[in-house]
Amino acid sequence: MRLKIVLLPGDGIGPEVMVQAARVLQLVGDAFGHQLHSAQFAIGAAALRRHGTALPTETLNACLGSTAVLLGAVGDPAFDHLAAENRPESGLLKLRVALGGFANLRPARTEEALIDATPYRPERVAGADLLIVRELLGGLYYGQPRGASPDAAFNTMRYTREEVARVARVAFEQAGRRRGLVTSVDKANVLETSQLWRATVDDVSRAYPHVRLEHMYVDACAMRLAFEPPHFDVILTENTFGDILSDQAAALAGSIGMLPSASVGGRVDLYEPVHGSAPDIAGLNRANPFGAIASVAMMLRHTARLTREADLVENAIRHVLSAGMRPADLAAPGTLVSSTSELGEAVTHALGELIDHQHAYHAV
Ligand code: NAD
Ligand code: IPM
Ligand code: MN
Repeated sequence: MRLKIVLLPGDGIGPEVMVQAARVLQLVGDAFGHQLHSAQFAIGAAALRRHGTALPTETLNACLGSTAVLLGAVGDPAFDHLAAENRPESGLLKLRVALGGFANLRPARTEEALIDATPYRPERVAGADLLIVRELLGGLYYGQPRGASPDAAFNTMRYTREEVARVARVAFEQAGRRRGLVTSVDKANVLETSQLWRATVDDVSRAYPHVRLEHMYVDACAMRLAFEPPHFDVILTENTFGDILSDQAAALAGSIGMLPSASVGGRVDLYEPVHGSAPDIAGLNRANPFGAIASVAMMLRHTARLTREADLVENAIRHVLSAGMRPADLAAPGTLVSSTSELGEAVTHALGELIDHQHAYHAV
């Protein structure tokens, strides 16, 4: 297997978690003889400082020529005063469009070992395991016209039938391989875009008779997610609602630092942890690297189709958690708080052992 992977560390804790994710990638390549070539490029505030733009042409071209892209995070308070189109985040928003992945897969589950790190009583959250399928290239984020004057500002929420249908198909496919329930989330009691969304999802659902479909308003969904998270299997929703609900779903996992994501369906798949640049803890070697490492597992599974390798990476994360090692954001009584680099090291160590074990098993 030969993959050309572009690494975009970005800003804040992005480079810190990227180092650990890259180690895991390297180990998988070495252990299984895959040629996983990686190269780093600048994006976000790091690119603004060095190249005067949040998405340099060199970065964009490298991404377009790659098999997959892994991004850390973008965003820096030093640039918060800039207009939206010039901010570090604009680099990521433009990259997403260029790569074309319209279906943003954001899984969130409650690991047995982390139940105590969630804000839930165990019986409320045990078994929670959901996948948010967030439409990534439409809606308020990209709708035209948009604009601002000193006293007023506006954005446009716009969706076409085909934009809804293509992401809906991804959600039904995913649900077919999971527990067979799609919850389509909208605000069809108020918004025209949501009425189109609902009608289109109904149409698409007819091709998937084995998947159950329910519609839910986004406010009710936020409540249900808080009260009864195990209800959900696949949540299908538009860009802004998906952004918000996926941060909320972090509560199931114990921290936003746990959540990985994949943006698929376009020219080049893009992988990124769901969290941001976390300026409040940047540079302290305290960031949770598991979301970034789990994004590597998603890359191995979805783009490289290396199921065994992806399972091993996920199991290595579980091993480290079961051993009681925790990043600061998941600290609980009886656990050992470890740094970003210690956790990355522990994952690669566990992964090495799992791989040795598997090789020994197959040699028998
Ligand atoms: P954030 O996700 O960066 O941080 C929210 C809170 O979660 C903070 O307290 C932070 O310390 C904590 N946190 C986040 N990731 C963590 C990790 N891996 N380990 C431990 N704690 C973690 O969101 P924010 O503060 O709203 O945004 C900060 C910047 O990041 C902004 O510029 C924003 O635009 C950007 N952002 C970027 C992305 C991305 O690159 N995909 C995503 C979200 C936010
Ligand atoms: C995310 C982030 C981004 C988004 C920002 C940084 C543009 O919050 O990936 O969830 O809103 O999509
Ligand atoms: Mn977000």
